Amino acid sequence: MTAPNEIRTDRLLLRQWCAADREPFAALNADPRVMEHFPSVLTRAQSDAMAARIEDGLTARGWGLWAVEVVGVAPFVGFIGLATPRFDAPFTPATEVGWRLAAEHWGRGYATEGARAALRHAFEVLGLEEVVSFTVPANVRSRRVMERIGMTRDEADDFDHPGMAADSPLRRHVLYRSRRLDGIRDVSSTDEIKRRAYVSSVKASAR
Ligand SMILES: CC(C)(COP(=O)(O)OP(=O)(O)OC[C@H]1O[C@@H](n2cnc3c(N)ncnc32)[C@H](O)[C@@H]1OP(=O)(O)O)[C@@H](O)C(=O)NCCC(=O)NCCS
Repeated sequence: MTAPNEIRTDRLLLRQWCAADREPFAALNADPRVMEHFPSVLTRAQSDAMAARIEDGLTARGWGLWAVEVVGVAPFVGFIGLATPRFDAPFTPATEVGWRLAAEHWGRGYATEGARAALRHAFEVLGLEEVVSFTVPANVRSRRVMERIGMTRDEADDFDHPGMAADSPLRRHVLYRSRRLDGIRDVSSTDEIKRRAYVSSVKASAR
């Protein structure tokens, strides 16, 4: 039985945060592998402040960036969930789906499994029409999650993140979208991912 505002998947519990999560969260935020595509690693104080902000958001709205437990394996591996970008861009206001996991838990499909459940929550419980996700072009692991859950990229939607300096290599971002009517697909085959990339590039060049 899950508590209200929690989500159970085959292997995961997306749950409210607790005090014991702060330490492993700080450890993953201090790991250069995890923070490779962000401006810097976080100090303990920055990490705690972020956890508090996320926790307050979840409590207030009943949805957000859930703490992720791998049931019977690890009490806290990171976060997966929904958030509201706090900057202006051509696609905002919007709701994004996002994830950050400790590196020792990569390569097991947890991000994909949790993200699919978060998308379903966005469409079926919150009734949203569209969910976006974005990252720097080089964040291939994250882009693969977006593609595996059936999100699609139109190159015409690529944008400069206003929170990054004009000369920062982290300024340019790719945007992926998922629309409610598209359904949540299980795109796991490489051929299907290549096919989608091809269709997106044809659409972009036809503009
Ligand atoms: C982005 C991030 C969550 C992706 O982690 P990940 O482990 O690559 O993604 P998943 O959990 O979906 O796992 C997919 C991998 O597990 C493998 N896998 C193993 N068992 C699997 C299963 N049951 N189901 C699906 N995939 C499985 C897949 O083959 C894939 O491996 P591959 O990429 O080598 O082909 C992780 O790299 C991360 O936290 N990065 C730092 C933070 C970050 O950049 N966040 C995004 C900002 S936009």
